[in-house]
Amino acid sequence: MSYFDDVSEAAQFLRAQLGSLRPSLGIVLGSGLGAAASAVHDPVIVPYESIPNFPKSTVEGHSGRLVAGTLGGAPVVVLQGRVHFYEGYSAKDVTFPMRVMGALGVRAVILTNAAGGIAEGYKIGQFVLIADHINMMGWNPLAGLNEPRFAFNRPNSGLRFCDMSEAYSKRLRQVAIQVSELEGQPLEEGIYLAVSGPSFETPAEIRAFRTMGATLVGMSTVPETIVARHMGIEVLGISCVTNLAAGLSATPLSHAEVFETGKQVERKLAELLDRLAMWIAALVDAES
Ligand code: HPA
Repeated sequence: MSYFDDVSEAAQFLRAQLGSLRPSLGIVLGSGLGAAASAVHDPVIVPYESIPNFPKSTVEGHSGRLVAGTLGGAPVVVLQGRVHFYEGYSAKDVTFPMRVMGALGVRAVILTNAAGGIAEGYKIGQFVLIADHINMMGWNPLAGLNEPRFAFNRPNSGLRFCDMSEAYSKRLRQVAIQVSELEGQPLEEGIYLAVSGPSFETPAEIRAFRTMGATLVGMSTVPETIVARHMGIEVLGISCVTNLAAGLSATPLSHAEVFETGKQVERKLAELLDRLAMWIAALVDAES
């Protein structure tokens, strides 16, 4: 079976579980940020183990289940937990769940993550909208033979050379900024730089990344964004600053700190996602 067939098999299995629910919005929850999954109404909960060909997370804080239902009244599919390259997974495995969302007909995704803050002035626990990214992972999930069927009949999709000039949808960012302003907690925008991990960065690397224009650093999201764009899916990225990046604080970095900060703000993120879901689903549904 080809990779495309594996994705189709997983999507077909999920379609049967979802019944009449047709999610137009997908959400991926990062380290320690799983609470939004429990805000989903009438949830259909599918553990990753039961989905054909789906990779299973090995990291604490990534519980590994798909939750479909409605959020803010919009039909959504939420991935609680993701797999990473540093766990030993291939590029194809890391992006498999995003491919399945594409096959399910999702038109937009909200990708959330835990990130180290590089910019001066970031507060721990703050959410930052991703305006753009820098891929320093050393690999690209589109390497290898191109699979045009991943276009799923959407225009300008499934292409060998995928345009990334608006990786993070301008209009979705505008919606997110407006919604957050209404809440009295306006979101700032930042630049997310992705490394492969699992070691954290050195202070010299963080100084170099700052010079390059990065304000956030993390170990996920970028591969998902790339394959989402390959499938013509709009992306909104939200980082939670779980810690100050290496060299910017007196204490050493740890996954425990990342996870703890995530836990402290996951409810706030759940509320934000609840409000965003309605607006974003309305925007993308209007076109289909
Ligand atoms: N570096 C890389 N990835 C991260 C960090 C960090 O400081 N914090 C959370 N994920």
